[in-house]
Amino acid sequence: MYINFWYPIVIGEELKVGKPEKVKVLGVDVVAFRDSKGNANVISDTCCHRGGSLGGAWANLPTAPRIVEDSIVCPYHGWEFGGDGKCTNIPSLGYGAKVPDRAKVDAYSVQEKYGIVFAFLGDLPEEERPPLLDIEEYGTDEWRTNKVLAFEVPFNFERSVENGLDPAHNEFVHPTHGFQGINRDTYKVNKMVAEDHNQGWGFWFMHTFDSPPLPTADDPTSTGSTPWGDAKTERSPVTAGGGTYGPNTLITHINITPETGFRQYFFEQPICETKTKIFFVNNRNFLMDPSMDEPIHARNLIIAQQDIDILTDVYPTVTPFVVKEEVIVPADVPIVAYRDWLAKFDAKGWRIDVEKFHRNNGKGKAYAIPGPGRNKSKNYPIDSLPLVEASDDADPAVMRLRTG
Ligand code: FES
Ligand SMILES: [Fe+2]
Repeated sequence: MYINFWYPIVIGEELKVGKPEKVKVLGVDVVAFRDSKGNANVISDTCCHRGGSLGGAWANLPTAPRIVEDSIVCPYHGWEFGGDGKCTNIPSLGYGAKVPDRAKVDAYSVQEKYGIVFAFLGDLPEEERPPLLDIEEYGTDEWRTNKVLAFEVPFNFERSVENGLDPAHNEFVHPTHGFQGINRDTYKVNKMVAEDHNQGWGFWFMHTFDSPPLPTADDPTSTGSTPWGDAKTERSPVTAGGGTYGPNTLITHINITPETGFRQYFFEQPICETKTKIFFVNNRNFLMDPSMDEPIHARNLIIAQQDIDILTDVYPTVTPFVVKEEVIVPADVPIVAYRDWLAKFDAKGWRIDVEKFHRNNGKGKAYAIPGPGRNKSKNYPIDSLPLVEASDDADPAVMRLRTG
């Protein structure tokens, strides 16, 4: 898991004014809340007083306000914190009394886009940050976007991203669009090339494969009729591919005919090393009628469940750190390209030291994701997440020979 990227936190319309949402991300808790102007804020959840949970439950005062003006109220002793993480009131000192400078928690930059509240989780100054990915299809006349869908899965986000990049699994995992391993004489994954894309922070690949017609309801191998009906009934070459952006964003392009297809964006929230919440934005340039949103949504859920069933059983849950513990073949080119990018993020020193984190976390020690406020002030009471120091081991030319 890495700091210094944009992460999805909550679905925008689910974040109600007056109702903060506590969210575990990168192994620790943050809290999202809307202030009185309706702006979304994300700050560390751990109160710097005595460790109360800012997004936690009220014990005996369920009707007490959770948000006062633009501040969130800690349910333990009522300290109030603004969206910038600074404490604005300490009731025990008297409302309006001066609060100590150390009374603050980390606060994160927020953008609300594509129906998602994103936070930049890290301390990089604004001008050095990888930008939030631009979905070029979003809001255009040529493309229709399904309402964002979020679902939790019981595996590591890198496993999830690698699966989405993997052209060789369709055949076996998805009866909806593979041959189901029955065409032994001709099946093969064609050669692929992965190339860094011009948005930086990731790569693209495309793969052409000879595809069967899409199954229909009366096909015994089908898992149900396709919402796109007879958009593709003949065997023909299909191109599909995609890429990554940062460690946690997966992009897939599926061209079911040369002119029609899907552009899918998966913004992944690592809850911890073994759990992930995926925020899925699906765009299509055919079947544009809004009435098709729901059947396409349902179809995507069937396909997602096929992946979830496989990945839930993968061992180890976390991608191996050492390449020699796997056998890599040419069809794994996109996975290798993704890991090369992870090695570049390792080399920047942005990877969380999860071993050190687990040694200390909760054992008399709390951690918070560092926000940019730490560049101006060193006196934050709660320690910043431990990071793996950048080293030669993380040379991008060596495929992720990680040791720690
Ligand atoms: S722990 Fe939050 S106000 Fe005391
Ligand atoms: Fe899949």
